[in-house]
Amino acid sequence: MLLKTKRIVRGGFCYEQEMDSTNARAKKLAENGTGDGTVVLCEVQTAGRGRLSRIWLAKPGEDLTFSVVLRISDTAMAPYYSFCAALALQWSLEKMKLPVRLKWPNDVLLDGKKTAGILCELVGDRVIIGIGLNVNRTEFPEELAEKATSMRLCAGQEYSRENVLADVLYQLEKAADVLETEGTDELLRLYRLHCATIGAEIMVSGLDGEYAGVALDVLRDGALSVKKENGEICTVYAGDVSVRGLAGYGR
Ligand code: BTN
Repeated sequence: MLLKTKRIVRGGFCYEQEMDSTNARAKKLAENGTGDGTVVLCEVQTAGRGRLSRIWLAKPGEDLTFSVVLRISDTAMAPYYSFCAALALQWSLEKMKLPVRLKWPNDVLLDGKKTAGILCELVGDRVIIGIGLNVNRTEFPEELAEKATSMRLCAGQEYSRENVLADVLYQLEKAADVLETEGTDELLRLYRLHCATIGAEIMVSGLDGEYAGVALDVLRDGALSVKKENGEICTVYAGDVSVRGLAGYGR
């Protein structure tokens, strides 16, 4: 693996064939004070977790499931690390000439379909950045077939998972550096450049029900500003957003 990172992996590396979830393992390591930059990687997750209490299923030997533990000086910055991860995947996949775009808050899309998901969690002064990336799989369960894809399906070629992992980690280190040295405004400026949600017609499903609107912008705190069909402007902090025109208005 061509590893170019100075921080990530240097703090520790934990690989096992099977784990419940790399995020869960990373959380345990973080609670025990693992080094900054520790990476947790496995082939099979028996309880892989996604956002909004969903499950995350990956194909052993074909996809990548891993988590990175970063020690942060200001825990208020934790939510911005999911934008770092999204940006890192954007930079890495576009370097490989893939037509990648981002869906707020942190889905990574190829051909409008989801190819990677990100789950960030905070443990003490450490943020756990969990990434599931569909690299070489060519089949998805029927209910996901319209909404999910892989790098291989998009490009028609296989990828070296080692090289993809090494580059994503390198780009993640760069994105975290942008956040930590230049701040949140610069990170979000870069994120907005690639965000397919901004300007799109969307459906929002949140705690207060489901409604349609147009996404106006990603605000300084990372929330999504939305103009509802009745003209009212509202702010979405969490929840599910689907974008019209992307994979059948799908999520
Ligand atoms: C989502 O899109 O809902 C987020 C999916 C995040 C999945 C990754 S796979 C590695 C890490 N370990 C987990 O249990 N979840 C994240």
